[in-house]
Amino acid sequence: MERFIITEDGSHSLFSAKFNQQYHSLQGALDESKHIYINLGLKPVLENASGPVYVFEMGFGTGLNAFLAWKLADSLQKQVFYTTVEAYPVSEDEAALLNYEALTGETDFMELHKSPWGVQNNISPNFVFQKELTTIEEFNSGHIFDVVFYDAFDPRAQPELWTAEIFAKIAAQTKQAGVLVTYSSKGIVKRALRAGGFKVERHKGPGRKTHVLKAIKL
Ligand SMILES: C[S@@+](CC[C@H](N)C(=O)[O-])C[C@H]1O[C@@H](n2cnc3c(N)ncnc32)[C@H](O)[C@@H]1O
Repeated sequence: MERFIITEDGSHSLFSAKFNQQYHSLQGALDESKHIYINLGLKPVLENASGPVYVFEMGFGTGLNAFLAWKLADSLQKQVFYTTVEAYPVSEDEAALLNYEALTGETDFMELHKSPWGVQNNISPNFVFQKELTTIEEFNSGHIFDVVFYDAFDPRAQPELWTAEIFAKIAAQTKQAGVLVTYSSKGIVKRALRAGGFKVERHKGPGRKTHVLKAIKL
């Protein structure tokens, strides 16, 4: 299978041979990212924020979620501190071929990919970015997060990333009433989130996807 995928909304995604998984929904990478991570997760928090908002993303991948978060922070003129972990990075050469600038009309996508690992980088006055080259299992942040983008590969491919233990670890680094959003609404995900310390809400998914989850830290 080719590494590059063109999803139904015209946006690119990638295929991981290691996990036999694509990075996004085949129905639309950009639609999925906007619907779940931006519109359901970050935007309502950012619109109501009176100070900086701390975001954690599991799985930097193509950088699409981070790119949209950055551009939202700039357009709302609200400060975001964005931390993301990635264990198996996409190369800069591959990232440079992704069509996210063309589809969004935004610029400087590669700033995220060129940003050094393990360093807080002031990408714009509103967007402080830090990516960590590590696994979610190993990662511990000094921050307490307001919003978590949980974008691991599917529970069938990586069941170890959708456990009560992982979600409890994330809950311990999430503010009370902070939100976690994710594309998977499987029963095992809901149960693991509840056991990890979240209240789980089901929301309409993007396109033909029936449900996605928004979880609130108790
Ligand atoms: C569904 S993709 C993420 C898509 C990404 N958010 C984007 O916008 O392109 C899952 C990502 O998690 C990464 N990953 C897999 N196992 C991991 C682990 N144990 N810790 C951290 N990252 C991991 C993969 O390499 C992949 O980039």
